[in-house]
Amino acid sequence: MSGMLKNALGWIDDRFPLSKVWNEHLAEYYAPKNFNWMYYFGSLAILVLVNQIITGIFLTIHYKPDAKLAFDSVEYIMRDVEWGWLIRYMHSTGASAFFIVVYLHMFRGLIYGSFKKPRELVWTFGMIIYVALMAEAFMGYLLPWGQMSYWGAQVIVSLFGAIPYVGEDLALWLRGDYVISDATLNRFFAFHVIAIPLVLVILVFMHIVALHAVGSNNPEGIEIKKHKDEKGIPLDGIPFHPYYSVKDLVGVGVFLFIFALIIFYMPEMGGYFLEHANFIPADPLKTPEHIAPVWYFTPFYAVLRAVPDKFLGVVAMAGAIIVLFLLPWLDRGKNKSIRYRGPVFKAAIIAFVISFIGLGYFGMQPVTSVGTWFSRFFSLVYFAFFLLMPFYSTIGEDKYVPERVEEDK
Ligand code: HEM
Repeated sequence: MSGMLKNALGWIDDRFPLSKVWNEHLAEYYAPKNFNWMYYFGSLAILVLVNQIITGIFLTIHYKPDAKLAFDSVEYIMRDVEWGWLIRYMHSTGASAFFIVVYLHMFRGLIYGSFKKPRELVWTFGMIIYVALMAEAFMGYLLPWGQMSYWGAQVIVSLFGAIPYVGEDLALWLRGDYVISDATLNRFFAFHVIAIPLVLVILVFMHIVALHAVGSNNPEGIEIKKHKDEKGIPLDGIPFHPYYSVKDLVGVGVFLFIFALIIFYMPEMGGYFLEHANFIPADPLKTPEHIAPVWYFTPFYAVLRAVPDKFLGVVAMAGAIIVLFLLPWLDRGKNKSIRYRGPVFKAAIIAFVISFIGLGYFGMQPVTSVGTWFSRFFSLVYFAFFLLMPFYSTIGEDKYVPERVEEDK
């Protein structure tokens, strides 16, 4: 480093712990040397969060949060604002990309046991992020004020009405009106552009602070902190920077390539990323024939519809999210990584994945009796995966786990 830069850094370090933070979290943060591609999704989630915030700021410059103007202002962004179409597609595609990345990130945690001791709080912060992300996406979806924005919000907010005693008042309080209206649009706008993004950024910070306090897990599920050299450096660890900062760039490259392909060639993704009904302005007097949320909500929507009673359906839907929070305490297996777990746990993971995707599929379809029965079956498998875990997670868990991360892996 040149003398002048060194002096400037020294000056800053005397007043602000810049080098200390850089070293503790990057240059001297020792991560396991065996991260695989499943470990790209954490840094990609940060990238997508930044993309959403920056494109969101530019959209807000031209968007009008007013029931009379909102739809047209989005059309104006698409047609007349310079590069407006690109900013909007980056934001709408970014929303789906966020959920794809976060679902894969969560799945990685599930199969490598990253939620287990001592990372329970990393998982818990992650789950709070996930719930905040769902609220963020739900409120953002009302803003273009299309038919699906309006009726989707109508359906979901009215679900609160099913709660005994307080439900109707609660729904009224959330909407600020008896139906979804301009008042609702204004408050959803406030939450979508400032309140929830702020919470998300703080939560991501806490997620990473929690992770760096205990250290990263890895595909082998071996704690690298158990074997350190005389300087206290984990023998199977490598500094995050430059090794993983550079490796993560590969993930960023691949991601941006696919992201650009979607934005330029299939931004609606056949109605999965931008639903067709949302190109029609909201009409409070005309309910669309088939109301379905965007794909990332459909597994939970299918659970809701699988239960005949409205209130119990809401309880089941909320329960499907709550059980995810409990994962660290439901899994009693002593090994972390799927590589060293018994066949029962492996089979349970496969059944869980099939049921989640199955629920996602049936949640998108119009109601049919076959679909409802499939949704009921998959809901049962989904809940059984979690609630029976304390019993089956220890079966066949006697596989030998190596002490050290092996070189040839
Ligand atoms: C905005 C959303 C999120 C961001 C930006 C984010 C960011 C990160 C980053 C940068 C890492 C370290 C790198 C890595 O291990 O991939 C990480 C690790 C982790 N995250 Fe997230 N995360 C998010 C959401 C979630 C969610 C929803 C969950 C689960 C409910 C979760 C659970 C975890 C776990 C368990 C680890 C530790 C993994 C390990 O050490 O094996 N994260 N996260």
